[in-house]
Amino acid sequence: MKLIEARDYEEMSQLAAGLIIGEINEFPTMTLGLATGATPVGTYRALIQDYQHNRTSYSRVTTFNLDEYVGLHPTHPNSYHYYMKEKLFDHIDIPSHRIHIPDGMADVLEQECQRYEGSIEESGGIDLQLLGIGSNGHIGFNEPGTPFDKATHVVELTPSTREANRRYFNGLSEVPTHAITMGIGTIMKSKKIILLASGLKKARIVHQLLFGEVDNNVPASILKEHSHVWVIADQEALRYAKS
Ligand code: F6R
Repeated sequence: MKLIEARDYEEMSQLAAGLIIGEINEFPTMTLGLATGATPVGTYRALIQDYQHNRTSYSRVTTFNLDEYVGLHPTHPNSYHYYMKEKLFDHIDIPSHRIHIPDGMADVLEQECQRYEGSIEESGGIDLQLLGIGSNGHIGFNEPGTPFDKATHVVELTPSTREANRRYFNGLSEVPTHAITMGIGTIMKSKKIILLASGLKKARIVHQLLFGEVDNNVPASILKEHSHVWVIADQEALRYAKS
């Protein structure tokens, strides 16, 4: 893992966007893995600004999102489909047929997981995957204890993850109980990975990620065994790592 230190959230976002834009310029037909949550919002904002000023084109880029809630329609404001349209896709020139997000409304969720994993394989795999990290070390919705070799699958969300995401809903009872997520096995097949971490609430897990052992109870720790990972973290997220 290569650590890139950023001053603050804004610099982290600019650095991540710069890496992504560099890859797109070099490989215009690349496959890009995307994340949702609070952390990548600034990165997406920087990608949109770059698109407006420099016209970096996404017309031949293919995207796969990490995850989607089960039971939320793509038009639901808390669905990750909606988030991606609002935060990125509506503002760049990516054709809709090149966008892939798991279908949390599928009748047979297991089939949807296999279909999604198959689409990733058909596209030649993910060239660059963007990740956030949960304060318990989850990546995607792969919670502590998830086997490292899993493909795309359905997960039951832990109480702590539902609690963390409740701020986006009208109360805990509205937060979905399940999600579809790329597995850690899927994520580890990505050729390159960028993991973003910002803010004090990520400081404990960033310390563990940088200095701890590979441990099934810390899903992100497996990234230590990947050959090409950039961790871009701001000073608050690095608070314990540097003391
Ligand atoms: C989102 C995702 C999650 C988030 C993580 C951190 O697609 O897969 O693993 O990256 O929960 O969320 P934030 O960025 O809101 O702290």
